[in-house]
Amino acid sequence: MTLAGFPTLRTSHHPVGNFAMKNGNFYLVPTDVRLVSMKESLIFDRKAFLKRLNALMKIDNMKDVRRGIARITSDLHSNGQVRSRTALTLHVSRSFLLGELKQIEQTHTIERARYYLSRLSKALTSSKTSSINDINLHRWKEYDEVLTDSLWVLDRRDSTGGHSAWYWGNFVPQIPRQLMLRYTKRGEWVLDPFAGSGTTLLEGKRLGRNCLGIELQPRVADKVRRLLEEKTSADTIVAIETGDSREIDLQSLLQKYQARSVQLAILHPPYHDIIKFSRKRNDLSNARSVEVFLRMFGDVVQNVAQVLDPKRYLAVVIGDKYDGGEWIPLGFRTMEVVLNQGFRLRSIVVKNFEETLGKRGTKELWRYRALAGGFYVFKHEYILIFQKSG
Ligand SMILES: C[S@@+](CC[C@H](N)C(=O)[O-])C[C@H]1O[C@@H](n2cnc3c(N)ncnc32)[C@H](O)[C@@H]1O
Repeated sequence: MTLAGFPTLRTSHHPVGNFAMKNGNFYLVPTDVRLVSMKESLIFDRKAFLKRLNALMKIDNMKDVRRGIARITSDLHSNGQVRSRTALTLHVSRSFLLGELKQIEQTHTIERARYYLSRLSKALTSSKTSSINDINLHRWKEYDEVLTDSLWVLDRRDSTGGHSAWYWGNFVPQIPRQLMLRYTKRGEWVLDPFAGSGTTLLEGKRLGRNCLGIELQPRVADKVRRLLEEKTSADTIVAIETGDSREIDLQSLLQKYQARSVQLAILHPPYHDIIKFSRKRNDLSNARSVEVFLRMFGDVVQNVAQVLDPKRYLAVVIGDKYDGGEWIPLGFRTMEVVLNQGFRLRSIVVKNFEETLGKRGTKELWRYRALAGGFYVFKHEYILIFQKSG
């Protein structure tokens, strides 16, 4: 079923993941990162399980189907974590599988039950992914971590994975993580032309994405390079280069890493002059006016667009600012800049932010100022998601 007006995704069917062997057991490893922890998963004999589902499909009355499902559920509860030494084992999210079985049990007609049984069997044996990520749509209920709402309320910074928040003006790792999970496949290339402390790069490495970051300040880039060296992995390339993203030759840089193009670009520019990142004239945070800032930002978008594959995504992470008591909507202004370059707007996400380093400890003061001055204190920023035309 398609909903009128909603975008549709091209999908492909292929066998679920790859088989890997660990401690003498075979595991079915999904094509994307494991989003289901071992604690929340059921591991069982795949062949035997599918045989039981098949047998249920041949039954012609609901009473016996329900009885069969109840038996399977009870066996899963008691043996779900038993790993056979010889059998091909299947690793599935507990809530997904038990939810599917419950749905079959509660169905009223045999036709519907058969449909659900065959859907479950398909979910366990094949995968359906779109052309832009590795999310297995046959098992979409397993991807609890992946956000799909336009309001992101992230209560704290993810501090796992080597992120240490040493850089003033960085973003939380959850932002690039969500974007990469939605808009890239494992092994694809992500470009971050305002790399800063390398949050995108570190997170990309964790997710098995290749990443190229550009940062204007050599000192910052050097530090990121050292951090990345501590985390080398054989199967991904994650690199940072120093330069001005408005004019740096991205094509040649990518060639250096045997890549021709990127499949996602994440742009987290300075929010104009809110934080001065350096004294350099080509630093966007030193633009002498909003208009100049927007022009410089447009030049970066243009440069990036040249190496972004058609139909792939570009995300801008930005907040607004006040200037002399006036709200300057940098979010909307930068959105116009990207739209003017032929991109299609796919989503506007509003993300909360809590105290920034700059405002830490002054919450009360800001509240007083807001009450007295008739304005609101910034608590949100935008993640604007665009698609390049085909
Ligand atoms: C908002 S910060 C990005 C922070 C990053 N997302 C992180 O998590 O650390 C913007 C970065 O853009 C850099 N920058 C400013 N102008 C630039 C330019 N013309 N080319 C490349 N980088 C630039 C600044 O030095 C700063 O590190």
